[in-house]
Amino acid sequence: MKLDGSKLAVIGGAGLIGSHTVDELLNEDVSQIVVFDNFARGTHENLEGALKDPRVTIVDGDICSPAAVRDAFDGADGVFHLAALWLLHCHEHPRDGFDVNLTGTFNVLEACRDAGVQRLVFSSSASVYGDAVEEPMAESHPFNNTTIYGATKIGGEAMAKAFHHRDGLGYIALRYFNVYGPRQDYRGAYVAVIMKMLDCLDRGEAPMVYGDGTQAYDFVSVRDCARANVAAMKAGTVDRCYNVCTGTRTSISELAAMLIRLTGQKVDIDYHSEAVSFVRNRIGDPTAARLDLDFVAETDLVDGLRELIDWRDEHRRHLTED
Ligand SMILES: NC(=O)c1ccc[n+]([C@@H]2O[C@H](COP(=O)([O-])OP(=O)(O)OC[C@H]3O[C@@H](n4cnc5c(N)ncnc54)[C@H](O)[C@@H]3O)[C@@H](O)[C@H]2O)c1
Repeated sequence: MKLDGSKLAVIGGAGLIGSHTVDELLNEDVSQIVVFDNFARGTHENLEGALKDPRVTIVDGDICSPAAVRDAFDGADGVFHLAALWLLHCHEHPRDGFDVNLTGTFNVLEACRDAGVQRLVFSSSASVYGDAVEEPMAESHPFNNTTIYGATKIGGEAMAKAFHHRDGLGYIALRYFNVYGPRQDYRGAYVAVIMKMLDCLDRGEAPMVYGDGTQAYDFVSVRDCARANVAAMKAGTVDRCYNVCTGTRTSISELAAMLIRLTGQKVDIDYHSEAVSFVRNRIGDPTAARLDLDFVAETDLVDGLRELIDWRDEHRRHLTED
């Protein structure tokens, strides 16, 4: 889809990937960007820079309300749907996960269809794959998921496909791997592994690794995810799901060692025997996104982690000064 002069809605646009997607869109010649978010997890602060641009407006709304979503999509050419409850939230509150990630997504799909939206970019997740049965994981990897969260993403993809075939809704789903970067939540109830390790390092303690540390993931920077969203909106393909990943394997021990080095702490890794992660191995194959979306993740992990640490330090300094 051509972005020039377009009106776009970014559902969940105050969150981590959404707010970076808004920033990325501001480099394009779009006419209007409507950020729709209930601020359950996202913040106005994430949009501080973007809101200086008159093309950006905010609608405080919930995807669980069909009417609110419908109003926000009026005249929209394209929609990014990033609003969802996170893995652990869904694990602890499955019905909330169902309501937001599935019913909410259904509301978004229906509103896209009714508003004649040309293209939807849906945030799925590498969680659909579960633990790797083959590596790297191409998009054809089986759905080996065992979590409520992953189930909601499989359902969201399947529902988008059904709307495409029934009503002609043009959609692309993006399966992000392990996303990290500035604006990542480090204070809420649900924080990811990198932030937990940095919390330990802040206290001068060794970062905790559960299991033997050989479990390995594909860490992709949030700025690259934002670029993938814009690339997916511009691309010609429809009715496809794409990995958003680097293709690089990093074990949890390697990640902990990088963070120790980058923070300059003189500690070792603190291994705990019990394993707590849902998935042991998840490395993506980035080929299809490169070929069809012209998307390649560019951020080196060490550079990206350095940027994250700098942002976190700066952000915490701001909070204590306020
Ligand atoms: N961060 C990751 O590692 C990762 C990995 C794979 C997939 N994803 C998916 O990418 C998308 C964006 O993830 P993120 O990391 O930016 O998450 P995030 O929590 O930072 O952003 C989600 C946004 O959706 C909003 N939201 C939640 N419920 C809502 C509701 N009912 N109505 C309106 N807005 C609502 C939140 O306030 C938040 O701003 C999500 O769909 C997520 O499942 C994220």
